[in-house]
Amino acid sequence: MQYSKKVINHFKNPKNQGIIKKADAIGEKGNPVCGDVMKIYLKIGVQENKKTHSTGSGQAKKQEYYIKDIKFETLGCVAAIAVSSALTEVVKGKTLDYALKINKNTIVKKLGGLPDVKIHCSMLGIEALREAINKFKNK
Ligand code: FES
Repeated sequence: MQYSKKVINHFKNPKNQGIIKKADAIGEKGNPVCGDVMKIYLKIGVQENKKTHSTGSGQAKKQEYYIKDIKFETLGCVAAIAVSSALTEVVKGKTLDYALKINKNTIVKKLGGLPDVKIHCSMLGIEALREAINKFKNK
């Protein structure tokens, strides 16, 4: 099995690994087949939406939630760790709606590809992230 240079770099030097003590939301997903587990911690901020929307009396700025900080803990394979690291880089500072749209293709592309048998590993982090965001939205 051949990993790309980017995968190896993220695995050896993962970004945003660790925990956030007073996280606003936590998502956790496990893969029952391999037993790997991933946990995502989020700190959420509020910012003004760059796009304005019109109201009856003119233009109003809408507020939106964004990912102020993100950390992950992974008990998993090389691909799971590399994907988690790349995922946190892609969504940090972005809105929750943007983060919810991230799919495995985005991450696999950012990593310069993944071996076919490891593609399923890319979903672990994405599912944990979605769970954390949805928990926050449903609070
Ligand atoms: Fe389990 Fe990769 S083998 S997530």
